[in-house]
Amino acid sequence: MSITVKSAAELEKMHRACSIVVETLDALEAAALPGIRTKELDRIAYEKIVGAGARPAFLGYRNYPATLCISVNDEVVHGIPGDRRLEEGDIVGLDLGAVVEGFFGDAARTVGVGTVNGECQRLMKVTRDSLMAGIDQCRLGNRVGDIGHAVQVHAEKHGYSVVRNFVGHGIGTALHESPEVPNYGPAGRRERLVKGMCLAIEPMVNVGGPEVRTLEDDWTAVTVDGSLSAHFELTIAVTEHGPWILSEPYPYDGEKRAHA
Ligand code: MF3
Ligand code: CO
Repeated sequence: MSITVKSAAELEKMHRACSIVVETLDALEAAALPGIRTKELDRIAYEKIVGAGARPAFLGYRNYPATLCISVNDEVVHGIPGDRRLEEGDIVGLDLGAVVEGFFGDAARTVGVGTVNGECQRLMKVTRDSLMAGIDQCRLGNRVGDIGHAVQVHAEKHGYSVVRNFVGHGIGTALHESPEVPNYGPAGRRERLVKGMCLAIEPMVNVGGPEVRTLEDDWTAVTVDGSLSAHFELTIAVTEHGPWILSEPYPYDGEKRAHA
């Protein structure tokens, strides 16, 4: 499939979808306290998205059974909500998508449950900063490979490894569009970034090795060595003024609104 570019009106719809995702993630982060079951967080996510007039993007996607992906500790991504209760000291990846008028928003963050130890805090910060380093490359004239290169350099500088088995993606009228956006690799390669491109950039960073495996439920990806993993994701649009982070309430460069 070829890369699509979005008009200003289409970017507004994507921004609405993304804003609902952000508001819902804020509510989930506040609710992610010791003792809550992961399926209760999924319920909150469903109610909030539907209540906002949107549709959950993941529910039913390739038969995925929930609104939210919840990945705890050594779980990397795609954990299915269930009876598990969150415990003090866990780190929890919350990954969510919503659809508004046919346009998709996709975002994820990893949060601590109660008080988490220093290693957890460092992993979350480095992963989040690696995402921001990747986003900073989303400028006209750069290439998709510049994004992953920046992510990888940042994560590895801090002694962590970047997962290879899953990649970020173009996004628009489908959850996954071209191009693929790996979180590793050489700079200066892959597709050139053009105005109106929308990308979901989503580094997964492990304390140990980069290898992952899938559990019997056919979804949950865990680290092979059992080490902790964190995941952050934001949807951005490439504009002539640089990256517009659609899944945050305000643009990255501090301007009120970037122009499509
Ligand atoms: N953010 C993830 C992705 O882009 C979530 C997809 S989970 C699925 O792949 F259930 F929808 F597959
Ligand atoms: Co995604």
